[in-house]
Amino acid sequence: MTILHIDASINGENSASRTLTRSIVDQLKSAQWGEEVVYRDLAANPLPHLTLDAFADTAVLDEFLAADTVVIGAPMYNFTLSTQLKAWIDRLVVAGVTFRYTDNGPEGLVKGKRVIIALARGGFYGEGSPASGLEHLQSYLKGMFNFIGVEPEFVAADGLAVSPEQREQSIRQALGETVRLAA
Ligand SMILES: Cc1cc2nc3c(=O)[nH]c(=O)nc-3n(C[C@H](O)[C@H](O)[C@H](O)COP(=O)(O)O)c2cc1C
Repeated sequence: MTILHIDASINGENSASRTLTRSIVDQLKSAQWGEEVVYRDLAANPLPHLTLDAFADTAVLDEFLAADTVVIGAPMYNFTLSTQLKAWIDRLVVAGVTFRYTDNGPEGLVKGKRVIIALARGGFYGEGSPASGLEHLQSYLKGMFNFIGVEPEFVAADGLAVSPEQREQSIRQALGETVRLAA
């Protein structure tokens, strides 16, 4: 079994999403002996913006398709995903491979893959909160993965920019959630 571990934060060792993805991958590895982990750091080694020529290179898509479980760190920057993560996603949504259009509408073609996404957000975006209308990270990732046939699982650390105490509490709570996810 193969785990594909994706990080996309620009915050290096101070990154909350990296802390969470590391924990998820560690939990998955200890739950099942012999897991192979493929790691891609999109901040250290960014993919270029999408071009038509880039579609010819299917290395990123093949790596995604080959993984049984995909663990993604998704920091919120300017109300959405990092451009580094977007460039990775741009290589996954490919007509005829990960989705197709049918007479009944679009159909996702990715089957049997587990996708776990660790969100890290500076504010709070829950239903009814003043900024809820600006949440374009989880909603985008859910919609995009649903489109290709995957129901992603989320763990979130929110309010990270509110105060040091809130940050510590949110990360602690999200780390606890990672234990449940890997169970
Ligand atoms: C460039 C930049 C833009 C950010 N924009 C937002 C934002 O729009 N909304 C928000 O809630 N937090 C925002 N934040 C806070 C981050 O979501 C928060 O620092 C989170 O920890 C990022 O994940 P990371 O620690 O894994 O990098 C921003 C942070 C940076 C560095």
